[in-house]
Amino acid sequence: MKKTSNKVVLIGAGAVGTSFLYAAINQGLASEYVLIDAFPQAAEGNAIDLSDAMSILPLPVTGIKAGDYQDCQDADLVVITAGRPQKPGETRLEMVAGNAVIMQEIAQQVKASGFSGITIIASNPVDVLTLIYQQVTGFAEARVIGSGTTLDSARLRRLVAEKLGVGAQAVDAYFVGEHGDSAVPVWSHAAIMGQPIAQYIKDGKITQAELDQISHDAVKMAYKIIELKRATFYGIGAALTKIARAILRDEKATLMVGAKLNNIYKNSDVYSGVPAIIGAQGIEQIIEWELTADEQMKMDASIATLKLSVAKAQD
Ligand code: LAC
Repeated sequence: MKKTSNKVVLIGAGAVGTSFLYAAINQGLASEYVLIDAFPQAAEGNAIDLSDAMSILPLPVTGIKAGDYQDCQDADLVVITAGRPQKPGETRLEMVAGNAVIMQEIAQQVKASGFSGITIIASNPVDVLTLIYQQVTGFAEARVIGSGTTLDSARLRRLVAEKLGVGAQAVDAYFVGEHGDSAVPVWSHAAIMGQPIAQYIKDGKITQAELDQISHDAVKMAYKIIELKRATFYGIGAALTKIARAILRDEKATLMVGAKLNNIYKNSDVYSGVPAIIGAQGIEQIIEWELTADEQMKMDASIATLKLSVAKAQD
């Protein structure tokens, strides 16, 4: 029987996961949501709290419930945000040991459920953990998607927009590589309504030094937020909702997701933030930009960092 509604399972009902869910129910992304958490009370409490909105939501929802891994069996989408939170000053990569073990366990349980949908992962360090999940489950690469540099790029777009006095959505400016400290801004492909950022530099509207400061600030944004309020969740929640919507509505949206590279961007066997077309089949196509020599060198360095972290996680 053809399904007429979507079921989304969230694994990790903390602040990131529930920020995603809150945005998802308000955008009417699915009709059924299930929350799984290592602390069942967190799943249950958040399910009840979110259910209180059911009569007010823009589109009908049939259920928001706490559940278990068996719920993945007939789910369309699994979104994983589980893991321990980042401490102030700690890098994402420093969390790899503990969170890799958690991700391996989750991967085994999702696989055992018979799940055949698409997975989106945001748990950090996301590029490393997405690779581990894909390897443990053996799921098709196109159907295992990391949040990648979606959020880093959103931060970059906002900061460039503020500087140039245009709306954030008008700015095309993106990071590739690691979601984190070694993310690489691709200024060679940055533009505003088709006008390359290089032209803005030529016209004296912005300098390369200012762009460098902006990309530095974008990379440091999570540290600043964690310092101020101990965690980041709304930004990543919005990024996850955007990816989920592209899949569930088959939008063919162009997003900077974490995708597994196979002889593309001169790299293989690693998950990295890259531009891709996202639709009902997951990652439908990775778009290969021609990077400058400097950008490629920085991307190679970012990927080398990720591969070291993967090796550490598998030790
Ligand atoms: C951030 C976390 C999600 O960048 O890594 O906000």
